[in-house]
Amino acid sequence: MNESNFLTLEEVARNLKVTRQTVSKYIQSQKLNAIKINKSYRITINDFEDFINSNSTIEEPQISYVNKTKNCNLEYLGKSNEFEVINSIKHGDFRMIDFKYPSSKNMFIFGDNYFVLKKLLGSHKSSIDLIYIDPPFGTGQAFNSIDDNEVYSDRLVNSEYLEFLRKRLLLLRELLSEQGSIYLHIDKKIGHYVKIIMDEVFGYKNFINDITRIKCNPKNFARSAYGNYSDMILYYAKYRDKQIWNDVKEPLNEFKKKKLFPKYHPDFGSYTTNPIHAPGKTINGDTGSEWKGLMPPKGRHWRYRREVLDELDDKGLIEWSKTGNPRKIVLAKDHKGFKVQDVWEFKDKGLSYVNYPTQKNRDLLDRIILNSSNESSIVLDCFAGSGSTLLAANKYGRNWIGIDNSTHSINVVQNTFKEKRIGCSFYEYVPYD
Ligand SMILES: C[S@@+](CC[C@H](N)C(=O)[O-])C[C@H]1O[C@@H](n2cnc3c(N)ncnc32)[C@H](O)[C@@H]1O
Repeated sequence: MNESNFLTLEEVARNLKVTRQTVSKYIQSQKLNAIKINKSYRITINDFEDFINSNSTIEEPQISYVNKTKNCNLEYLGKSNEFEVINSIKHGDFRMIDFKYPSSKNMFIFGDNYFVLKKLLGSHKSSIDLIYIDPPFGTGQAFNSIDDNEVYSDRLVNSEYLEFLRKRLLLLRELLSEQGSIYLHIDKKIGHYVKIIMDEVFGYKNFINDITRIKCNPKNFARSAYGNYSDMILYYAKYRDKQIWNDVKEPLNEFKKKKLFPKYHPDFGSYTTNPIHAPGKTINGDTGSEWKGLMPPKGRHWRYRREVLDELDDKGLIEWSKTGNPRKIVLAKDHKGFKVQDVWEFKDKGLSYVNYPTQKNRDLLDRIILNSSNESSIVLDCFAGSGSTLLAANKYGRNWIGIDNSTHSINVVQNTFKEKRIGCSFYEYVPYD
């Protein structure tokens, strides 16, 4: 006898949320053959089929149900209470540890970011405009420097990792200003769980983009899988549509310039031409009339009034073909740039070219800082590593706060900043006894 084909009365009652008596009555009414094994009555699944179907609570999603799922939560053991995370008090203080180039606004704090963020809530609640974080990814590994010393550990995995991150995200949300936003850099193994945690913390309605970041050249590994050359950046606002958004465009690069503006003019540089007419006939107006001996082609009208066409021609911005066909000259130097899309290529350099493992490409941080902060903004990175975010924030005149608990991190940041003479007050977090 295969026991897995049998169900006990208790199992059926528990799973269908009916009483044991209801199940017994059904067995008696149907005269089913219940067999006693190990003190409990069992019956075959086949005999129970009708009963299970008529008592099943499974439903197809309704429209209202689909709406509810947007704010679904991730359940796991050891999930702490949100109120307690935000409001419990840890007693400690920041102690200045380096006086070389102090700054009244920019600081780096050495310590566990959970306690440091809690402390910052006292002074910076609702005042941070931009957060970029690149936390450990829950890989279970340690990361070493080029000389093989451990720089930081990424040993928390699964739900413990998610809870580590969630607690910090709750505090970060409290630090964000009304116009603030957060970018979280993560890999694609754990990133989808982190997305749910972020929906829970920041609200699904405040999710803006899941940016795919191409991180390296295509890989040719032997594993039976597609090469993995991207990670993800989850971007949320504190309040959607209130966030700072500078709409910085992607400039025209040489490759695209050659493709889109293939012609060259000795005075104007690279250019292309566009027709000066468009579909649709003008019955009586100026754009349907003769210009320089030409009528618009059949069923079309001039794109511009004739006075404007004259002006363009006077400036040499109309190109006449050998057969007398006019086209408007469009200059590469007037191109306004492209709307940035959600796939970004910012490859990281290998460890031998940088001074910190997992150091992120600074151009990527430039884009985030320029798009999502203003000069008056404070930018925060509480997994600061080599200080890439802080350097980018500093480059564009923002104020910033960096936090990290690795001694390698504070050493690298101190050295880099001193070399570049960047003002920064260095503190360590000291808990009270
Ligand atoms: C992926 S690295 C960040 C690299 C950084 N984005 C860069 O470009 O250099 C993650 C950093 O988080 C720091 N970290 C991990 N747990 C931390 C904690 N509880 N408090 C503060 N920093 C932590 C590590 O020391 C490490 O420097």
